[in-house]
Amino acid sequence: MATTTTDVKTLIADKVAELVAAGNPSPRVGLVPTMGALHDGHGALFEQARAENDLVVASIFVNPLQFDQPEDFEHYPRTLEADLELVTRYGGDIVFAPATEHMYPGFPNAPQIRVSAGEMGRVFEGASRPGHFDGVCTVVAKLWNILMPPAPAAFRSYFGQKDAQQLAIVTRMAQDLNIEVEIRPVSLVRAPTGLALSSRNVRLDDHGMEKALGLSQALHYLADLATRGERLDISAARDIIRAQENVELDYLEIVDPTTLQPLTAQQLAMPLEREALALVAAWVPPVRLIDNMLLAP
Ligand code: PAF
Repeated sequence: MATTTTDVKTLIADKVAELVAAGNPSPRVGLVPTMGALHDGHGALFEQARAENDLVVASIFVNPLQFDQPEDFEHYPRTLEADLELVTRYGGDIVFAPATEHMYPGFPNAPQIRVSAGEMGRVFEGASRPGHFDGVCTVVAKLWNILMPPAPAAFRSYFGQKDAQQLAIVTRMAQDLNIEVEIRPVSLVRAPTGLALSSRNVRLDDHGMEKALGLSQALHYLADLATRGERLDISAARDIIRAQENVELDYLEIVDPTTLQPLTAQQLAMPLEREALALVAAWVPPVRLIDNMLLAP
């Protein structure tokens, strides 16, 4: 494990040099950025990174900039020892786990310069968490700058499709800021019931688990309409969720997967012409759940 930028850069450069010397002309380096508190949901990220790369780097850093409530940052679980064991079990090679002061010297009065996620960061999850995606972009840009391997290595970074908005935003950031990293999306994992796996599910009792199924049912309903070439009846999909007692729908929208712009009423009136993304968030007491599904025509 490395805790400083200099150490982790040396570790990565040495490994890349070893791979080149062993006859690999362009080693592939995959980064799995995390905030720790690792669980099996992270396993899929590591599994894909391991399968696609010669070297797998994990970062473990609880990023204060992406918490809108300071107490949420303070209470965020920190389980470094268990995380290091899990990274090893998942096949990670190098862990970068810096302290807050190392990433942001002078925090909380730093960093002065931050990345803005723009309009994409102000909608959906960003609407209820002002500044969250600016914080994500700032730390991800820093992590990419620190952990990008030297030539001739290729660099990839892994993000779960579960956080579809985050995935779209970091993909756009890499393009807009010309950062030489390939974003690799990792498919969302569902329970056999259809419920998207999330660390929040443990707070649902059996009743809550049942009600939460409304989210994936609504998404499947839209995906079926899309594949059958039928008009996407978004109101009927919202009603599937609202039909569950005590469940409060925050949003269910169909958007362009890259820009997150909602499809217009005119586009929704016709069968889908190209891939779209259905995003949903709802309160299923005591938790707020998000889910999403790509809709293919
Ligand atoms: O998805 C997360 O765990 C975080 O937002 C990330 C990408 C590690 C940045 O802190």
